[in-house]
Amino acid sequence: MSQLNLLLKQALQTFTCTREMFQQNLEKLMNLMNKTSIDDVRINPVLLSNVIWEKPNKAPATYVHIYEDLNITVGIFVLKPGLLLPLHDHPDMHGLIKVIHGKVKITSYSLNTDNTEIYKNENTEVFSESMTPFIVEKTSEVIVDPSNVCSILYPEHKNIHQVECINGPAAFMDILSPPYDTLNEHGEMRRCNYYKVLNELAPNIFQLQKTESPSTFWTDSAPFIGKLFA
Ligand SMILES: [Fe+2]
Repeated sequence: MSQLNLLLKQALQTFTCTREMFQQNLEKLMNLMNKTSIDDVRINPVLLSNVIWEKPNKAPATYVHIYEDLNITVGIFVLKPGLLLPLHDHPDMHGLIKVIHGKVKITSYSLNTDNTEIYKNENTEVFSESMTPFIVEKTSEVIVDPSNVCSILYPEHKNIHQVECINGPAAFMDILSPPYDTLNEHGEMRRCNYYKVLNELAPNIFQLQKTESPSTFWTDSAPFIGKLFA
C-alpha cells in the first residue's frame, strides 16, 4: 500500500475510532504524516515554480483536493511566495499540517489557557457587551520545512493560526477533522472564521476580533495528479 493510502487509512481510523483509542491512533497518524513527502503525493511542478505566481489575477493560493468524506478532509495548499494565509480558526476540529515543499512560519493562538483566563478575570470591565473578547495566547511560532515533523492543532489548543510563506512557493498537506461545512453538535454549519489582532494586551496575550476574509486572499484549485487507493 502506498504511503498516501496508509496515511488516509490511518486518518480515517483516527477520526472514527472510540475516544479510548484516539490518542494512540493520533500518534500513529502523526508518525505517518512525518514520513510523508512530496514524492508521495505528486504536485504539478508548475505550481512550485515562481513563474506561475507572477501571472496577473492568479490566486495567491492553490488548493489541491485529495480526499473528503464526512470525517476528514485531505488536501494540499500551495502558497505564493510571501503570502500570509490570514488568521483563521478550525471550530471544534483537529488539524495536521506537513510542509512538503518550501518553508512556512506557523503562528498559533489558543483560547482559554491559564493565562487568558487570568487576564480575562482581571479585565472584564474593558470589554463592552457588543465586542466579544476573543482573548488568546500566542502558544506557538515555528518555522518549518519538509525536514520538520508535522504541526497539529486541537479543538482546545492552537486552534487559531496564520501561515506565512517564506521565500519561494511553499506547499503543505492538510488533514482536517471534521471537515469545514459539516454540521457541528448544535446543528449549525461549521464555518471558517477569520480574525484580526486588535491589541496586544500583555506579552503573548492578544485580543482578536472576527473579520471578513481579507480581499487579498483567495484560492483557486488544481487537480490532484497522484494516485489514490493504488
Ligand atoms: Fe488552517
